[in-house]
Parts: sequence; structure tokens; C-alpha cells
Amino acid sequence: MISKRFNISRSLAAAAVFISACGVAAPQARAAEAAAGYWPLDEGTGTTTADAGGQGATGTLMDGAGWATDAKVGKSALALGGHGSVDVANSVIDTSQSFTVSAWVKLKTVGGFQTFVSIDGDKISGFFLQLRSSGNFGFTHYEADNPDSRSAIAGALAQTEPNVWYHLIGVYDADAKQIKLYVNGVLQDTAPLDKSWRAQGHLEIGRGKYNGASVDFSDAEIDDVRVAQGVHVDPAVLASVKEDTPSLPATMTIDFTQNGPKVSPLMYGLMIEDISHSIDGGLYAELIRNRALKDDGNKPVYWDAYPSSSFASIAVDTRQPVPNTALTSSLRLDASSAGGGIANEGYWGIPVAPSTKYRASFYAKSDGKYSAPLTVSIQSNDGAATFATATVAGVTGDWKKYTVTLTTDKSAPKSQNNKFVIAAGASGALWFTQVSLFPPTFHDRPNGTRVDLMKHLDAIHPAFLRMPGGNYLEGNTIAERFDWKKTIGPIEQRPGHQDPWGYRSNDGFGLMEYLEWCDDLKMEPLLAVFAGFALGHEHVSTAAEVQPYVQDALDEIEYLIGGPDTQWGAERVKDGHPKPFSLHYVEIGNEDFFDNSGSYEVRYAAFHDAIKAKYPQLLLIATRSDVKSRKPDVIDDHYYQSARSFEADWRHYDKSDRTAPKVFVGEYASQEGVPTPNLKAALGDAAFMAGFERNADVVQIASYAPLLVNVNPGASQWGTNLIGFDALNSYVSPAYYTQQLFSLYHGDTVVPATVEHGGALSYVVSKVSKMGVVYVKVVNPMASPITTTITLNGAKSIATKGSAIVLTSANDTDTNTISEPKKVVPVTSPLKSVGKTFQYTFAGNSLTVLTLSVK
Ligand code: AHR
Repeated sequence: MISKRFNISRSLAAAAVFISACGVAAPQARAAEAAAGYWPLDEGTGTTTADAGGQGATGTLMDGAGWATDAKVGKSALALGGHGSVDVANSVIDTSQSFTVSAWVKLKTVGGFQTFVSIDGDKISGFFLQLRSSGNFGFTHYEADNPDSRSAIAGALAQTEPNVWYHLIGVYDADAKQIKLYVNGVLQDTAPLDKSWRAQGHLEIGRGKYNGASVDFSDAEIDDVRVAQGVHVDPAVLASVKEDTPSLPATMTIDFTQNGPKVSPLMYGLMIEDISHSIDGGLYAELIRNRALKDDGNKPVYWDAYPSSSFASIAVDTRQPVPNTALTSSLRLDASSAGGGIANEGYWGIPVAPSTKYRASFYAKSDGKYSAPLTVSIQSNDGAATFATATVAGVTGDWKKYTVTLTTDKSAPKSQNNKFVIAAGASGALWFTQVSLFPPTFHDRPNGTRVDLMKHLDAIHPAFLRMPGGNYLEGNTIAERFDWKKTIGPIEQRPGHQDPWGYRSNDGFGLMEYLEWCDDLKMEPLLAVFAGFALGHEHVSTAAEVQPYVQDALDEIEYLIGGPDTQWGAERVKDGHPKPFSLHYVEIGNEDFFDNSGSYEVRYAAFHDAIKAKYPQLLLIATRSDVKSRKPDVIDDHYYQSARSFEADWRHYDKSDRTAPKVFVGEYASQEGVPTPNLKAALGDAAFMAGFERNADVVQIASYAPLLVNVNPGASQWGTNLIGFDALNSYVSPAYYTQQLFSLYHGDTVVPATVEHGGALSYVVSKVSKMGVVYVKVVNPMASPITTTITLNGAKSIATKGSAIVLTSANDTDTNTISEPKKVVPVTSPLKSVGKTFQYTFAGNSLTVLTLSVK
């Protein structure tokens, strides 16, 4: 079929190959700067094809490449059958500079990699306009002529269908450091590309190059191929391509005569580890940084002499331990006059709010000669304002713990550029350690959690908490693992340890605090136990070597669920929690797929046998899928990918072996947006999560990671995190709402549903069986809305009223921040005309949850 519009655009293009962005043919004078090639592929016979771009870059048909007469444009198209290509003995354009490439393609088979246009480098192609093995189109560009270099992929969302003509445009924009892919006139994806290179070999139509070999031969017809230097994307051309590739109206059919898999009530939970000051300097409400003076053995980091070094000098002292405690380090103050003291800067400030009570405590002693009182206060950093103050008297030559309450006035402004000060009433030598300051905490727990963050987490209604990691469980070395027995009991008995994310954890937030957090949010712990492998690859290998860690895990499980008559159950009672915790899942290690020694086989088997023997009811999670000697109940899968990869792969678990161990997606997140994800990421997550829920017989449980990030410069070690905060404020990201909507709006059973002509839509339908409530969750990751006819098959009665919750925004890069926390939020509106068949328009860039009443 010959398109009229494309005849028009072809005649313009014959002069200049691409139409410039302003819609006017690019003048030939600019063609030197804008080298170009254009192969209409209209010869229909013979073994060469002319370059209508004016550069004489004739192509030669190689290895059985032939002609097809059912062209998309003009008389004929190139016909390829999994071999052969058109070879142009010239690179035509410079791939290190901006360029645009386009082609019409019609696939005979959708399978494997197939490259439609490329330019050879020595080792790989300078770009690949291609079908990817996932069945989606892609525009791929490596940063160097090396298959091991970083690659950028701009990917299409919808799966490609065979025997349909598609129009593809790939763009490299060197100024914006981006690549883009358009399919049928619609921008599919933009991916960052930091650097490029010049491929100096032949231009090829119908294959690519990889590892020095010709690869990715196309089983397709290819027509009207163009390349040009520069970025040439004309809205008028996009519009005419769109018109030339009309899509059929989308339909969704929901089948109430069938039941899909059951959805676990534990499906959606949280994952936590102390990364990016999630815990210390985050959820753990302690405001004093380096409270026990162990963060640096040489310097009192985060502490200052107050008000300046003219009044006092300070130093770390390890010769004055507090007897019978883990407090082996202290801060020595030599006050040269009254008013000299110590000041702590907190975790990027000390938050102040009006009419607020703070609990301050510290261990102190003097040289025996000092007898004046101490003044404890919270002050602005410039010293101009004191927001709360209290006095402590009676410090002696012996260590003693002192506690005071500091209360701010109702006029105290909300602020965080503040410090905590203890000032001496006279000159003298004093020592301090475990200096602590707590604001009001969630549920008023002493040694508790930050209220605003807990409220955000509570609103997700999470079912479980995977804790305490992550890499944090492993430590960089075995000695730096999360050694749970050193994290329980009175906080002065906890030595603290080095966190693998680059700072020291004081372990004030220890195993019991994680468990109390579970209590507070009505979550169940998912306990990850250390399995004898540390992040730096230190590991144990034999059954004998692993035994102490197995015993630690058995003791830990007993601490959680043992009766008061057991050793560790009794310890839990002593720590204030008589009731055993509910526990279903225990995870053996973390990401042991990084252990290439083969030791996980032995380590997993030892844990499996010992735990199953004592606690047969527990489900065990392995962290690699190739364990052979035992069958784990569940495998933990982790994914950190682009939103487009998730969207393209949203049916990932459709293909799972139903007899294999079940799946826990223990970490996943679309990597778009720093420090917290934007709307695009929220939609990528949602598409992938729709795939979890529709495969709830395989994917039993899932948790996003990382959960929390302190957004201060230098505080974070990970790019994209769910919830951001500083000392005073916090906000939730668009991706948070995805978590919340999936957690709040899922049923107990999946209802089978199919979508036709829905393009890139991903979806899942589930119902709360007893109540006749149905949740239809649909993700439209494209910018254009998609009107869909929804049919409810087999429903006995349908309420006409329902509701729609929509998470969207003007641009998919829109996000929330500390200063603009509500830019992207879900909006609920009523649905009034629900029936057996009704229409709904899924907004561009949206996650929608329709709530229907169907019996
Ligand atoms: O979530 C951040 C880290 O990613 C986790 O600690 C680790 O398990 C994964 O590599």
C-alpha cells in the first residue's frame, strides 16, 4: 500500500532527507554539516539500491537479500529472511555527533535481536535501530566501540506484532546527551548517553555488529531508510506517520466466570536497611550524631567547642570507659571559663518545633574538682536564639546518667539550623558520652521512631517488613555484619558497628526496635539472617564453619517466636516483649548470587536443615535460584532497572515455571529520579507490580527498595529512594503512591482480564471475594490517553457507581520534593455509568485504580 502522505514527505526528503524541526526542508547548503543518506528501496530488482540523499552512497544487496513488492512506501521494499543485508560502503554520518535514523519495518517473525539499520565499528555497531529480544523495538547506543562499555537503550513499550508495518525513528542528541526512540510517530523513550564515538565502517540495512561479528540479521521487510546528521524530528512528519498507522480502539475484557490465582494478604510490604541514613539520622528519632564518640577514634566529629575554641577545647578520650557498659569512648571538655561547653550539630541540624518536649540524657563525670551546674540547651547555629534550656546539677568524679526535659515555647519557629549544647557553669574538665536528645516519638516509645516518617509508612498499610537488609545485614566483613545479639538490651550495652554504606551505626535501633516498628504498623517481620557471606566476599565454606551462624539464626528465630521458657524467648520477655511475634518467612543471607565461590550451596543447606528441623512451619527464602541440594520455598529476586525496562517486561512472571520455588521480589525500583523517584518511575514500578499481582501464584510477596533517604548533600549512598526527608521535613515520592495504591487496592483473588489494542497498557484485576469489590489497576506509560471499552463478562449484578483514583501529572518527569511535596498526588473521582460495557479513558502517563461493585 502506498501512502499519499509519504509520497509528499518523500519528495521533500529526496532533497534533504529529513525535514527540519520547523517543518521546512533543510537547505542543501546545510547538508555539508548535515550529511545524509536516503534509500527509498524502490528498485524492486537487481543487486544495488541508490542513495537518493545526494551523496551517492549506493547500497549493495548481500547474501540473499531481495525485494518485496508489498512496499510501505513506493514500489518495493527490501526483503530479508534472517540473513543478508544492504551494505553501504560508507559510514555516511558521524555517529559521535547528533544524528537521526529512520525506517519502516515489517517483521515476519518477532523473535531474537534483529537490527534494521546500523553502522559498523571495529567491534560493535555505532548504533542499532532494532528489535530487542524482549519483542520490543529499541534504539541502542554504546558509549564506546566495545561490547563491555555502557550502553543506552531507548525502548518501545508495546510488544511488536508480526506482519504489521511500523515506522521507527532513532535520535542521538549530543547536546542533550540523550537518545530517543519514536515508533509510529510517538516518542517511546528517552535514555541518557554521556558519551559517544564515531563508527567508521559500513552502513548496514538489515544487520548489526557485535564482538566483531555480523549479527542480528532481520527476518523482515524494510523500507524507506534515512540517516542524517543532526536532530530532525518534525511534528508534522510524526503526525502523518501516526495517521498512516491507525490503531484499533482498545478493549479490556474482564472475565468473572473464572478465578485467577489467590493474592497473599502479605503481598505488599517494606524493606529496610540502614542506607542513606534511613535509620541513624532518619527513622530512629535520636537527634545527636556520634552520641557515643565512636564515629572517629581521633576526632570528635560532629562536635564543636562551644561557643568557640577560646572558651573550651574538646577531644575524644578512650581512657575513661563507663564501667560495665559498651561506652568505651567519651568526649573530654576542658572549659577555660564559665559558659565553655560542647555543641552537637545533629544529623544535618537539630529540628525545632513550637511547644515540643525533648528528652535529653547523657553520661557525665568531672575530674572531681568541678562542682558547678551544667546548662543544656537547643540553640540556633548562630547562637542568636535559644529555644529550650534546662539545668543539670551534681556532676561528680564518677560516671552517672543524667536526664532532663527541654521544652520549646509556643513561639519557637520551625527550624533545623540548630545545635544541641551542654555548657559548663565554671572552668574545669568534664567527660560526656551517650549524649542523647529525642523529640516526641511515634506511639511515644522511648528510644523510638520519627513521627512523620512512621505516618507515611503507616499510610501504605504494609503487611511485612524485610529487615535488617540488604547489604547492611552482611556488612563489608563478617565482623561488621548485623550481629543481632549485640543490638539488643539496654542501649549502653550496644557497642555499635560499621555500616557498609560508609558510616557508623550506633545500634540504638537494634533488633527489638525493628520488631517494635512491626508492632506499631501491624506488620509481620520477614527476618533476614546472616548466612556467612559478607559484602567484601569474606565467607565461610564448610558445614562446620557455618555452624555458629546457623546457631545464631536459630537463636534469633527463638528470640522472635520462642516461649518464655526458652533461652532467647526469655530474653525477649526481659527486653519488654512477652508476646511472640508472628513470623512466616526467614531469608537466608542477601544477594548470595554475588558469591562466586559456590559456598551458598553448603551454607544454604546447613541453614535449611537446621531451621526446618526446629521450625517446620517457617518458609525459607534463598537468595540465589540455583540451589540444588535443597528446594527453597521461595527465591528472592532483585531488580533495579529503567521504567521502560519494567514496562516492557511487565509480563515477566507470566512465563515462570509453576513448579519452581515461589518468588519474593525483595528489592525493585525504577531508577528514574534522584534522590526520590519521579512519575515515570512510579509508572514503571506499577507496570511491573501489575505483573506480580496477576502472577500471585508465583510472586507471593514484594518490597520496594531503598525505602528512605536523607536528602542532605552527602547523606545518601543510593540514587532513587521512596521517601525523602531532612531533619525537619519529609515528603513522599510519586512511586510511594504506587506502593500505597497497590497495597490498599488489591483483592484476595485475581480476576482474569485481557486487553486488545491497548498498546503499552499493563493491568491487573482482582476482587475482594466476599464483598464483591473489584479493583482494576491500569498503567498507561505513554503520554497520550487511551480510551478503552471495558466489558465485564459473567457479572451477575454491577453497581453503576464506582470510583477512579488517578496518579498522573503534566510530565512524566514531574516529581515531589521537600519544597514542593504535593506536586504529584493521586486524585479520586466518582464513576457514574459503570455497566456490563462502559468506556474509560486512561490518562496519559497514569496509574489508575477503578473500584467497582460487581457480584
Ligand atoms: O537496596 C540497596 C542495596 O541493593 C541492597 O542493600 C542490596 O541488597 C542491593 O544490592
